[in-house]
Amino acid sequence: MRNDDGQVIRLEDYRPTDFAVHHVDLVFRLGSETTEIEARLTLERRAGTDPAAPLVLDGDDLTLTGVWLGDEALAPPRFDATPDRLTLRELPAAGRFQVTIATRLDPAGNTQLMGLYRSGGVWCTQCEAEGFRRITYFLDRPDVLATYRVRVEADRAAAPVLLSNGNPQDAGDLGGGRHFAVWDDPHPKPSYLFALVAGDLDVLTDRFVTASGRDVALAIYTETGLSARAAYAMDALKRSMRWDEARFGREYDLDIFNIVAISDFNMGAMENKGLNVFNHKYVLLDPDTATDGDYAGVETVIAHEYFHNWTGNRITCRDWFQLCLKEGLTVYRDQEFSADERSAAVKRIASVHGLKAQQFPEDQGPLQHPVRPTRYREINNFYTATVYEKGAELVRMIATILGAERFRAGMDLYFARHDGDAATMEDFLACFEEAGGIDLSQFALWYHQAGTPTLTVRERFEDGRLTLGLEQDLQRGAAGTGTQPMHIPVRFGLVSEGGADLVAEPAAGGAEIDGDVIHLTTPSAEIVFEGLAERPLVSVLRGFSAPVTLRFEQRQEDRLRLARLDPDAFSRWRALTDLVGEHLRNASIARAAGESAAFDARIVDAIIASAEDERLEPALRAQMIAMPGEAEIARLVGQNVDPEAVHEAREAALTTLARRGEATFARVHEAPAATGPFSPDAAAVGRRALRNALLLPLSIASGSPDLAHAAFAASDNMTDRLAALTLLAHRFATEARTRSALDAFFERYERDALVIDKWFTLQATAPVPEAVEAAERLIGHPLFQLANPNRARAVIGGLATGNQRAFNRADGAGYRWVADQLVALDRLNPQTAARLATAFRSWRSFEPRRQSLAMEALRSLAARPDLSRDLADIVERTLA
Ligand code: PHE
Ligand code: ZN
Repeated sequence: MRNDDGQVIRLEDYRPTDFAVHHVDLVFRLGSETTEIEARLTLERRAGTDPAAPLVLDGDDLTLTGVWLGDEALAPPRFDATPDRLTLRELPAAGRFQVTIATRLDPAGNTQLMGLYRSGGVWCTQCEAEGFRRITYFLDRPDVLATYRVRVEADRAAAPVLLSNGNPQDAGDLGGGRHFAVWDDPHPKPSYLFALVAGDLDVLTDRFVTASGRDVALAIYTETGLSARAAYAMDALKRSMRWDEARFGREYDLDIFNIVAISDFNMGAMENKGLNVFNHKYVLLDPDTATDGDYAGVETVIAHEYFHNWTGNRITCRDWFQLCLKEGLTVYRDQEFSADERSAAVKRIASVHGLKAQQFPEDQGPLQHPVRPTRYREINNFYTATVYEKGAELVRMIATILGAERFRAGMDLYFARHDGDAATMEDFLACFEEAGGIDLSQFALWYHQAGTPTLTVRERFEDGRLTLGLEQDLQRGAAGTGTQPMHIPVRFGLVSEGGADLVAEPAAGGAEIDGDVIHLTTPSAEIVFEGLAERPLVSVLRGFSAPVTLRFEQRQEDRLRLARLDPDAFSRWRALTDLVGEHLRNASIARAAGESAAFDARIVDAIIASAEDERLEPALRAQMIAMPGEAEIARLVGQNVDPEAVHEAREAALTTLARRGEATFARVHEAPAATGPFSPDAAAVGRRALRNALLLPLSIASGSPDLAHAAFAASDNMTDRLAALTLLAHRFATEARTRSALDAFFERYERDALVIDKWFTLQATAPVPEAVEAAERLIGHPLFQLANPNRARAVIGGLATGNQRAFNRADGAGYRWVADQLVALDRLNPQTAARLATAFRSWRSFEPRRQSLAMEALRSLAARPDLSRDLADIVERTLA
C-alpha cells in the first residue's frame, strides 16, 4: 500500500492552479454494494496561464467509469487515468466549460475512514485534508473554492435521512424504494469542507435566531435511540453561536446547521460547511454515561467546530502549510469561550497543563516542527499539538501584546479583508500590524522557529531597588530552524508581604514594559524597579503569557508564599506545581541512583493547606492537590529517565502526602456534598473534582479499597463511578472485589460503546508492568474492534500514551506489543496508526537499555515494506 515516492511537499513550491473550479454538481447513487458518483465541474483557465496546459486532477485509489467534456464522451489519449491521477488534454483555452467524471466506490470496504465510508449502517464522508480525491478526481487543495450542488439518491429504508452542505433544495421519491434529496451550498468552499451523510438516524432539533434576525434550524443527528443524549451538545451549540456574535461579531450564515454523530471517526470532529460531522464521543452525553471531563470536551469541540465557520470556512487556508491559520486561531477562540462560560483560571490551568503534556514533548523531541511548517511528506501527520495548541498560544500572545481592543480591531480587519479568501499566516499577521500600529516581524519568528524557548529570570534586591534579569535561549532543535531572539511577552506582578499587587515604576531598562507586560525582544535584558519599601515577591509569566520553559531560581519561601497568596490564581497553581514537580524530578533522579530524596514538609503542607483553602474554588483546589503524572515527571527529568524510579518517586510522594494530610483530606471529603439532582455546571463539577481527587490520598493512607468501593456503590453519575473504579483497578487490581466491580460495570454498560471504551482504557492504563499482558487479553475480548478508532485508541493508546510504566517496560515487551498492534492497525487505518505511533516520540529521553529496545521496535517497523506513508513518515522521523 506504500504509495510513497519519498516525495516532500514544500511551501516554496506553492503556485496557484492553472484552472479555477467555479461550481461542482455532484450526484451520489448510494447502494448497498457500490456507490456511483458523477461530478460535473464547471472550470475555467485562470488568466495568464499556459492556454495549452493539461488539467491534472488528484485522485486516491479511484475507479473511473467515464469522462465527458460538455456532452462529448472522451477517450484516451484525450485523457489518461490512474487510480491517483486524471489528466485531461486539449481543453478550451478560454471561457467556462464543463467536465463530468464518473467514479465507482466501495464505501463499506473503506477502512481508512477517509473519503466516503460506512460507519454502522451510515454513509458518511471525511474529506480533510485530502479525502475528497478518494470520492472523485479533483483539484483537491484548499485554495480551489467552488459552490456545490449535491444530489443524493438512496434506498429510503436504509437511508431515510439524506444530508449534505448548505440549504436543502429539493427532495422526493424515485420509485422502487429509492428517494433523493438535493442540497445547495451558496458559499464557495474548498473540497475538504464537502460532506455527505445518509442513513437511518434520529434527530434532536432546535432553533436559533441570530442577532440580525436570521432564523436558523438546528439539528443533531444520532444513531437511533440516542438523540436525547445530544441535549447538552445542542445547548453548547446555541451558547457558542451567541458567544461568537457577542465576542467577535460573527453571525451564522445559512438557514440550517446540522451536526451528525458518527461512531467510527479518526479525529474529534470536522467543520464541514453547515454539516459538522462528529466523533459521537463529542456529542452524546448524559450523567449516567459521561464524566464531567466528557461534558467539557463536548462543549469545547462543539464550540470549536462551530467557530470554524468563520475561522476556517469563510476564511480558509491557501495551502496546508497554513493549517495553524484556522486551527491555532479556532483553538484560541474555543479556549476563550470555555473561559467565559466557566472559571477562567481553571480553564487556563487545564489548557497549560495540556500544552505541557502534549506540545512540549513534541517540541522537544524528534517530531518537532514549526507552527507554520515549510515541508511535509504526509499532511495528516501535521494535525499536531504544535499546530493546534502552540498555534493557539501564539494568537493569545498577539492578544497580550496588542491588548483586548486592538486585538479585536485586528480580528475585525481580518474578517473584513479576507472573507471568502484562502489566506496565509502572513495575511493574518498583517491585519494586526495594521490595526495595532505595530511591527510583528520579530513576533512572526514564533511561527517559524521550532522548539520551546527557555526564559531565565534572576532577581536582586538592594536599597529599595529590585533588578530583574531576563534571558531567552532557544536551543537549536531537530527541525533545524533558526535561533533568533523572539518577542516574549512576560506578564508579571510584584506582590507584597500581605498578598497585594504593588505598583512600582520601572526605571530605565533594557526591555520595554507596558502595564503588567514586559516585552523581552533581545537575548537578555534588565529591568530596575525603584522606591520599593519592602522586598516584593516576584510573580512572573502570569497566565502563562508565553509558551516557554521558565527557569527562575526563586527562594523557596517566596514560592511557597506565592502559592498561598499570589492574587493571580493561575500563578498560585504554578508556584505550587513547580515546587512539587521539582521535588519529583529530583527524587526520580535520586532513586535511579539508588538514593532517596525527602519530600520537603513545607511543600507537603502547602498542598494540604490548599485542599481546604476556602478562598479557592473547589475545582482549583482539585488542580492544586493533583500530583503531576509519570509522563510529566519524565519530561521534567529530561534524560536518562528510569520509568520505575519515576513511578517509585511519585508513589513515595503520594504516600507522604496521604499520611500527613489524612485528617485534613478526610475532613474536606466528609463535608456535606451539595444536594439536588446532577448538574454539569462549573460549581458542581468543581465539587466532584475535589472529592474525587481526595479519594486517592485517602485510599493510600488507609491502605484499603473500602472508601473507593463505597464511592463506587454510592455513585449516581459516571464521574464519580469512573473515578472510584479507576482507583480500584489501578491500585487494588488483584482483589476479587475489584474484579466484581469491573464486571458489574461491564454488564451494566455492555451495549454502550462510549462507556465500554472507558472500561477498556482504565484497564490498559493500570500503572503496573503486567498491563502489557492485560492489554493483549483485552484485544482478544469479543468487544474489541481494531477497526473502530475509539476502541483502538482505548487499548493501544491507553497503553502507549497513558501508561508510561508498562509501555516502557524494562524488557521491551511494551514497545514490541505496541509496534505489533501498529502493523495490524496500519493495514486498516494508516492515519490512526500513525497518530498512535507518536507515543514513541520521547524514546531518546529514557535510559540506554530502554532506548535500544525502543529503537529495535522502531527499526523493525521501519523495515517493513508495506507500511503506509502515514506510519512510515512518523517512524522515520522519530528515528532520525
Ligand atoms: N479540522 C478538524 C478540527 O480541527 C480536525 C480534523 C482534521 C478532522 C482532519 C478530520 C480530519 O476540528
Ligand atoms: Zn479545528
